[in-house]
Amino acid sequence: MQLAERLSRISVPQTIRMAKLSRELKAQGIDIVDLSIGEPDFDTPVHIREAAKKAIDEGYTHYTPVAGYADLKQAVAYKLKRDNGLEYSPEQIVVSTGAKQSIANSVLSLVNPGEEVIIPTPYWVTYSELVKLCQGVVKFVPCPIEQDYKITPQQLEAAITPNTKLFMFSSPCNPTGSVYSRKELEGLAAVFEKHPQIFIISDEIYEYINYVGEHVSIASFGSLKERTIIINGLSKGFAMTGWRLGYLAAPLEIAKAADMVQSQFTSATSSITQRAAITALRGELDTAKEMVAAFRERRAFIFKALRDIPGLVVNEPDGAFYMFPNVSSFFGRSYEGEQINNADDLCMYLLHKANVTVVSGRAFEQPECIRISYATGMDRIQEGMKRMKEWLGKLK
Ligand SMILES: Cc1ncc(COP(=O)(O)O)c(C=O)c1O
Repeated sequence: MQLAERLSRISVPQTIRMAKLSRELKAQGIDIVDLSIGEPDFDTPVHIREAAKKAIDEGYTHYTPVAGYADLKQAVAYKLKRDNGLEYSPEQIVVSTGAKQSIANSVLSLVNPGEEVIIPTPYWVTYSELVKLCQGVVKFVPCPIEQDYKITPQQLEAAITPNTKLFMFSSPCNPTGSVYSRKELEGLAAVFEKHPQIFIISDEIYEYINYVGEHVSIASFGSLKERTIIINGLSKGFAMTGWRLGYLAAPLEIAKAADMVQSQFTSATSSITQRAAITALRGELDTAKEMVAAFRERRAFIFKALRDIPGLVVNEPDGAFYMFPNVSSFFGRSYEGEQINNADDLCMYLLHKANVTVVSGRAFEQPECIRISYATGMDRIQEGMKRMKEWLGKLK
């Protein structure tokens, strides 16, 4: 069958593949501890669910404006002012079917074939695939654990060429959990000030899942708001992954372009989700805070447990719900003739022997690491850590 050539440039995310494998083994009755999960294990807060029910009863069942209801865009603008101190008009906001679509809209609106996009690694899998779909050139900048997986101003400066169009990153970061401090962002911003042709996609979807307390957007520095696209949404902070609502806030021209792109793909996200989102965005953040308190406790536990496993190199991330240890000391070791050569092998070993699912760092362009999610109950995390310690200990 002659499918389009562009399919050869992209692939299914490893995260989705691991989740599928895990589901299949569970269906066979195997007790899998799933630490590959990319979503909060909490339910959507009741008041938001109630708002959705009310929306159905009130008849919000028709097409909506492409970029979202006017009062929803006002609610997003209100949130950006309240939480980030940033002023946006509703026309600068486009609401989409998840932050993933907001990112896709942005990349499709900006990147021409041959233009370079700088992505610090480890990074979230979708970024590079979207760039490749647009025939852009991905320029990865490796950021090792010693620098907390964050790009330095020197690395950024060195990666920039006259052909650089865009810089994409997340803070808090998936997969590492790293959070850029105000000072670190200031350093990057100073570099961007020297290169006015570069746009920035600042993915802030994990904003509320932050253990240091301060979330800073790179759009807050100097003139960067004029070329930064803020990406955010409800999936992580409000435990609303299935509802599919993300948004971007951008310079007017980019917002208009994103609106046009979206008008040809999905029109708008669900009317009911949009009504519920107004309640989420304008309401108190109590549920997010409760969730973060639980994540904080798990993070402390899992950090200690991982540090107690000989051979793992671990840092303590400031945000999101992932640990990203370096596992390269296990490469070359074996158990009963099965040799571990890379992070993929280690993930398969852990899956089939320990029945623990984690994701290989190769998926995030850091093949010496694995991603461990703690978005699951403490009892499962404890069990998972026990099994990991036991089975990693058997590798000689
Ligand atoms: C860094 C990052 N950005 C964006 C998304 C997409 O979020 P959404 O569910 O809103 O599409 C995810 C989801 O895993 C993510 O980890």
